[in-house]
Amino acid sequence: MHLSIPQQTIEEAARVLRSGGLVAFPTETVYGLGADASNPAAVARIFAVKGRPATHPVIVHLPSIAHLARWAREVPEAARRLAKAFWPGPLTLVLKRASGVSDALTGGQDTVGLRVPSHPVALALLSALASGDDGRRLIGVAAPSANRFGRISPTTAAHVRSELGDRIDMILDGGPCEVGIESTIVDLSGARPALLRPGRIGAQDIARVIGTAPEAPGGEAPRAPGTLESHYAPQCPLRLVRPEHWDAALAAESRRRSVMAFRAPPPGDPSIKWICMALDPQACAHDLYANLRELDASGCEVILAEAPPPGPRWEGVRDRLKRAAG
Ligand code: TXA
Ligand code: MG
Repeated sequence: MHLSIPQQTIEEAARVLRSGGLVAFPTETVYGLGADASNPAAVARIFAVKGRPATHPVIVHLPSIAHLARWAREVPEAARRLAKAFWPGPLTLVLKRASGVSDALTGGQDTVGLRVPSHPVALALLSALASGDDGRRLIGVAAPSANRFGRISPTTAAHVRSELGDRIDMILDGGPCEVGIESTIVDLSGARPALLRPGRIGAQDIARVIGTAPEAPGGEAPRAPGTLESHYAPQCPLRLVRPEHWDAALAAESRRRSVMAFRAPPPGDPSIKWICMALDPQACAHDLYANLRELDASGCEVILAEAPPPGPRWEGVRDRLKRAAG
């Protein structure tokens, strides 16, 4: 369910962006912390507010697929196909950047991450920013997830407010995010397509469109900081437990614990909080970060999380839980 936002508020948010301010806004994946992507000083503020290292590139959100060729100096056939198949939607393409794309966005790399989000509020904001377009200008909203560096991504406006509320200029509340985990990232700037971050759109979905499955990322420097092990972490330590070890792990855990599992608690279980996760990967992803936040705030000393079932449909959730476990 999306909350609709008056056009007047959208116009105001676009004005804030144009004047160099920061606006948090909903996307279908998670909330983003947005700045005018053509304004390096505004983009620098994102890094300051998040406490994020300047070498980490940010994703540029575009008003439509028509803007792709302004931002990328090469648009390979595979990129064209993926954009056509999945935009607007939860897929980020890493491409060779066009001239004029600032180092502030790319962390000094020769590539830029691009996506067209599908949330109606994000699209309305982007289209307001694009009004008066001359057909050549670089138009986009640079936005990482609207959390402090290394913390759980926000999937509601309340999450954003609690983490960054006093440090940013405006928050657009579009209701809870539908997907709940960050976009899939595919790097098409190299010799072969590489999957930098799994998400709702899986490797198989990509293979179906471009004919080859993307490779696991190479061993280069932190090209995608989302791939740092400690990312998406709650403050309380999280232990990821395989189903076959579950009963033993539960019995052996002497710390005050909260739990997220695919099963119900046994009778008389002493856990502070026990959240049953949905057995459908999309429903599970939708609630994942809100659940982690709730457990984190429950006063436990450890979070026990049951590992998801095997199989490609669980790739995104599995990835985020592994990272949360650090
Ligand atoms: O779903 C999403 O992607 C959300 C919403 C707001 O769009 N955004 C998001 O941004 O998750 P962030 O900054 O938290 O994560 C962006 C990821 C990082 O891992 C970053 O390294 C990668 O995208 N990235 C961006 N540009 C890149 C580039 N040129 N090369 C490699 N990775 C890039
Ligand atoms: Mg993030």
